[in-house]
Amino acid sequence: MRIERVPSDVPGLDKIIGGGFPKQSVTLISGGPGSGKTTLALQILVNGAKQRNEPGVYATLTETPEEIILNASSFGWDLKHLEDKGVLKVLDLRPSRFLEFKSRGESETFFSWVWNSIRQEVEKIRAKRVAIDSLNVLSAQFQNEYQSRRAVMNLIEALQRLPECISFLLFEQITMERTMEEFLTSSVIILHYVPVKNGMIRAIQILKMRRTDHSENFHPFDITSKGIKVNPNETVVFF
Ligand SMILES: Nc1ncnc2c1ncn2[C@@H]1O[C@H](COP(=O)(O)OP(=O)(O)OP(=O)(O)O)[C@@H](O)[C@H]1O
Ligand SMILES: [Mg+2]
Repeated sequence: MRIERVPSDVPGLDKIIGGGFPKQSVTLISGGPGSGKTTLALQILVNGAKQRNEPGVYATLTETPEEIILNASSFGWDLKHLEDKGVLKVLDLRPSRFLEFKSRGESETFFSWVWNSIRQEVEKIRAKRVAIDSLNVLSAQFQNEYQSRRAVMNLIEALQRLPECISFLLFEQITMERTMEEFLTSSVIILHYVPVKNGMIRAIQILKMRRTDHSENFHPFDITSKGIKVNPNETVVFF
């Protein structure tokens, strides 16, 4: 059976993932601070909204929507305009917003509030692309690893059930060791941002992507005034 794919239209990226993301897949975008996680996820949503008429929901659990909108404008992406057209929604799901919601006497947990808000918005605008920035904020709400693992698994299953959707979980990578989040999702993209002799170099790695004959190399990429640009023809050697 042919796997249905959704192109990201991020220059160079589709070439190294077999043409695009498998439909109904959940991809972890992992990387350190400033590695480009937010930019990549936003670019995929903006491209879907502008070029393929596929609405997107960007759930921010870290930065304010105003910050996201301002950062996006530095790449020439007018998120307000896309919101007005109904093809994008930046959802403010920061823990401080949840506390306001709770203070009105609601009895939901943070996790179910986040999920219900996303699900409702996905249904409302018929979203086909979803990003959650970041997974760390969600899993930090749990007392132990077992609870957090179960919750993340439930979230991934729920995202996989969203009709015709591709989803992205942004993950702030703190150590170089493998983490449970990388085992739970069917696809993992790692954004490397590492020091070399004369500065820093950016490289993208597809650690895994089910049902996909993806590149196994580290490919250099740039963040330019138009967003991320991957070079699929070049590789970076780190070790
Ligand atoms: N307009 C721009 N032109 C070129 N490069 C930019 C532009 N805006 C941001 N950058 C680069 O992108 C980096 C930030 O990327 P981004 O916010 O996507 O990273 P992140 O992985 O989400 O970081 P964090 O973990 O802090 O949330 C900046 O540090 C800068 O190097
Ligand atoms: Mg970010």
